[in-house]
Amino acid sequence: MGADLESVLITREQIDARLGELAAEIDARYAGQEVLLVGVLKGAVMVMADLARALSSPVTMDWMAVSSYGAGTQSSGVVRILKDLDEDIAGRHVLIVEDIIDSGLTLSWLLTNLGSREPASLRICSLLRKPDAAKVDIDVEWVGFDIPNEFVVGYGLDYAEKYRNLPFVGTLAPHVYGE
Ligand code: XMP
Ligand code: MG
Repeated sequence: MGADLESVLITREQIDARLGELAAEIDARYAGQEVLLVGVLKGAVMVMADLARALSSPVTMDWMAVSSYGAGTQSSGVVRILKDLDEDIAGRHVLIVEDIIDSGLTLSWLLTNLGSREPASLRICSLLRKPDAAKVDIDVEWVGFDIPNEFVVGYGLDYAEKYRNLPFVGTLAPHVYGE
């Protein structure tokens, strides 16, 4: 572990095992129907790649990039689309693939936005969720791990664009973000 990291919260083995379980549940739910996986850039890249490979369902993938207005690490709930989907999702079974649900504001906005495009179904799979940080209630079908309300990095998640390539989820040492 580098000096910048405080602890490993979820190991690579735990992530692999949990994604295997989620994939089995997702396959069972869609029962052979084609699923359009929508990944939210950039954080969901790792979970998208590993979940997609664990699924047996026929899938296609598309990507969206969004950003919250305002500076800082807090989500404002006002979201701007930086990159929209390439595909029309009307009539499709859409599964949003996320790295983490914090306040839930980003995802809440995304659900309304994508829901208005008339998909056949719209569900969410998020690797991580911070129950103590929730500001809005969201119906999340599949969650990998509920975690404490701490800033985490790795497995797609960044601090100032770093640490996304760590194969595990960890917490940062306080000196890194200046406390
Ligand atoms: P909200 O609050 O809208 O935020 O649910 C979701 C987005 O905020 C980012 N986020 C984090 N990124 N470590 C990170 O690297 C964290 O602990 C963390 N919490 C929230 C992330 O982009 C997520 O999609
Ligand atoms: Mg994200």
